[in-house]
Amino acid sequence: MLNTDRIEAAKEQFGQLLAQQLKRVEEMKAQGDFIDYRALDQIIIGVCGGDGIGPAITAQSQRVLEYLLKDDIKSGKVVFRNIEGLTIERRAAENAAIPPAVLEEIKQCHVILKGPTTTPRKGDPWPNVESANVAMRKELDLFANVRPVRIPDQGIDWTFYRENTEGAYAVGSKGVHVTEDLGVDFTVVTSQGTERIIRAAFEFAKANKKTRVTAVTKANIIKTTDGKFLDIFYSIAKEYPDISADDWYIDIMTAKLVDEKRRKDFQVVVLPNLYGDIITDEAAEFQGGVGTAGSANIGKRYAMFEAIHGSAPRMVKEGRDIYADPCSMIRAGAMLLAHIGYNKEADKLYKALDICTITEKKLVLTGRDTGATSEEFADYIMDTIAKL
Ligand code: IPM
Ligand code: MG
Repeated sequence: MLNTDRIEAAKEQFGQLLAQQLKRVEEMKAQGDFIDYRALDQIIIGVCGGDGIGPAITAQSQRVLEYLLKDDIKSGKVVFRNIEGLTIERRAAENAAIPPAVLEEIKQCHVILKGPTTTPRKGDPWPNVESANVAMRKELDLFANVRPVRIPDQGIDWTFYRENTEGAYAVGSKGVHVTEDLGVDFTVVTSQGTERIIRAAFEFAKANKKTRVTAVTKANIIKTTDGKFLDIFYSIAKEYPDISADDWYIDIMTAKLVDEKRRKDFQVVVLPNLYGDIITDEAAEFQGGVGTAGSANIGKRYAMFEAIHGSAPRMVKEGRDIYADPCSMIRAGAMLLAHIGYNKEADKLYKALDICTITEKKLVLTGRDTGATSEEFADYIMDTIAKL
């Protein structure tokens, strides 16, 4: 094919992407307000175990939640629904990021507790289906990825608000191979998508008496999209005169997070998708590793709660999944409780997690038979709650 023809083909593909993104803008404009869980007669919690160590650790988180919610489960106010089929085998067989029937079931719920799912990469035996996380975030329009990191004895209490539907991820699987030698990917930013994440970060700061919100971009280089993100950040900041607003570039921010003198000053951090992905792994590592961190994916109608780590297929292959650390999924469960209005129960669970993983540590998880099993650890957490 001639280069001119290839350029025309690429332009055609680009045009289709733009049309899809403009359609998304219209959908965002038409969106209503956040769902009010208190107004519901029944809250349906869907549980997708995922694959690898996912089913094992998700089951433990579900046990803890069922324990905390037992009265409301009995009265019918809360229902758990186990959703099968969000596995790599089924996704590969149907060649779908989320099999349509599974997505239908998910959409019948209000909130989802989701275990890690395998994302195939080049060289894997699976077809190159899109990540189930990314697909679910898009399908359910879960635009705010909220990732807290707390290390009380170091004075660290960070909450990251990662934009979850745009940036490098919006059309991450739809880049263009213009010729054999030229590949182009796209980064997408919209006013609506940026406003809603930045507003969510400031609203969280206001509701939780935080005094500082920090934006992170690379707007000196990625001028159009990151530049737009930053402009909108400072214009929304004006609506919150009691909260100080500042911004850092992603490179120096990754450095500042290891600066023990400065890092405790950060409070709420809002950032585009890819930077948020990277920096939240770094931040979780200070807290004890990605296995300790939970993550909330919040939209106006749906919300999904998950671990920030992957499915660790190697642990399953070596028969060690029963020893996997369930704390990330249990922490995700605590975030779920707080999100649907069970704040007292959520606080109890956070307290128990602190006792079991930091102060008391009667059981230790090592990921192998030298430590406790996930089930024993979940029992330990429930026993601790009972004593609070
Ligand atoms: C995360 C993960 C996902 C992401 C992967 C599994 C697709 O790293 O939740 O941070 O990149 O968002
Ligand atoms: Mg990540």
